[in-house]
Amino acid sequence: MAPKHQAPRGTRDLLPEDTARWQWAEARAREVFSRYGYSEIRTPIFEDYELFARSSGESSDVVQKEMYRFSDLGDRALALRPENTAGVVRAYLESGMGGRSRIHKLWYMGPMFRYGRPQKGRYRQFHQIGAELIGSAAPGADVEMIALFVDLYRAWGIDGLTVAVNSVGTPATRLAYGDLLRAWLAPVATQLSADSQARLVTNPLRVLDTKSEVDLALFQQLPAPPRMVDHLDADSADHWAAVCAGLDAVGVAYEVDHGLVRGLDYYTRTAFEVHDRTLGAQSALGGGGRYDGLIEQLGGPPTPGVGFSIGQDRSMLVLQERGLSVENPTVVLVVAMDATRTAAQTLARELRQEFAVESDLEGRSFNAQMKAAGKSGARFLVILGEDEWQRGQVAIKDSKLGTQDVVAPSALAALLRSRITA
Ligand code: HAM
Repeated sequence: MAPKHQAPRGTRDLLPEDTARWQWAEARAREVFSRYGYSEIRTPIFEDYELFARSSGESSDVVQKEMYRFSDLGDRALALRPENTAGVVRAYLESGMGGRSRIHKLWYMGPMFRYGRPQKGRYRQFHQIGAELIGSAAPGADVEMIALFVDLYRAWGIDGLTVAVNSVGTPATRLAYGDLLRAWLAPVATQLSADSQARLVTNPLRVLDTKSEVDLALFQQLPAPPRMVDHLDADSADHWAAVCAGLDAVGVAYEVDHGLVRGLDYYTRTAFEVHDRTLGAQSALGGGGRYDGLIEQLGGPPTPGVGFSIGQDRSMLVLQERGLSVENPTVVLVVAMDATRTAAQTLARELRQEFAVESDLEGRSFNAQMKAAGKSGARFLVILGEDEWQRGQVAIKDSKLGTQDVVAPSALAALLRSRITA
């Protein structure tokens, strides 16, 4: 019988076999953030619609096609957050963090919402792990941010990612570059896909991001496109050179991708993305960049910022495909006989103050418990035999060492501790 209710289109449940992996990855990420000196920030899952409309850009896909907009019962115009940089900046301004110290290093993880067409690696509720460094315009901040991104993946056991970087300049140089792009595309403008023709008017840089086969074939007929990095203002050009030199110096592999433009409008200067091409269409594992105008645009004093978000759903797919399996956390299994069942529950509860312990809840026979123990993956079996228990002893089997010992229950915790840490 089909269940009466299904998860809404584009959402999914993370079941225990998933959450074990997700928690493992999140724990590693927390460690890396803390080593880099970042602190967690948690902002609401919904915000004023205007906050996202202003920051992402009115012509962006996120605002035009993907926003979960709603009015609440008080008729407030709200939206589920499609991304979290705007929320973090709002919180930064609202709490007056900028007045307390100049530089703030923040991280977050949590669900985001975009009304896109669901497919593998693309969901309507998805999850991001992100970082924002607010208050520094130095190229070193961009370099640290990219190194942090790469090191999060390293902590997950994935090396050798290549980061694609570009400079998108300032709003003024982007405007001028847009005109160059229009001129470059003029010979094929009327043959471009409808989406690209619309973008050519509103935001010509986004045409470079087209997925349309027709558009890509048309680009092939044209000479090489103008490159944004050749049309930067002097300060942005210096910044770009310093970021590339900094990445070289700290040993982060990167490729310059002259066609890299981001889907959100707030970027200035450095923009970057990391892809895993084995993932097909939804290959971007994450991206970010500098947003030096955003804080001022949202009503604050001119304050630079740089950050990224990793798409956690896609990253977890990559980890799964590369065979990440998280060990069964059960370490100790307590096996009882009829006369020792209550004692076994008490002992299990005591051991649980320190260790991951399972015990039989259903009054199963000794043989059934031993059979289940074999499958459980637990390293230690603590067996409460009737005669031994009478004598004040329990047996402990260690499957790793292949040993069996008989000890007093009061000596168990110390023995387990010493074996586990040995
Ligand atoms: P974004 O490039 O829009 O940037 O999203 C970052 C990542 O989130 C993407 O590379 C992708 O892995 C994942 N993602 C986006 N949409 C979906 C979806 N529908 N399903 C699954 N995964 C998705 C940002 O969001 C910026 N806030 C990054 C940033 C932080 N820039 C500066 N600071």
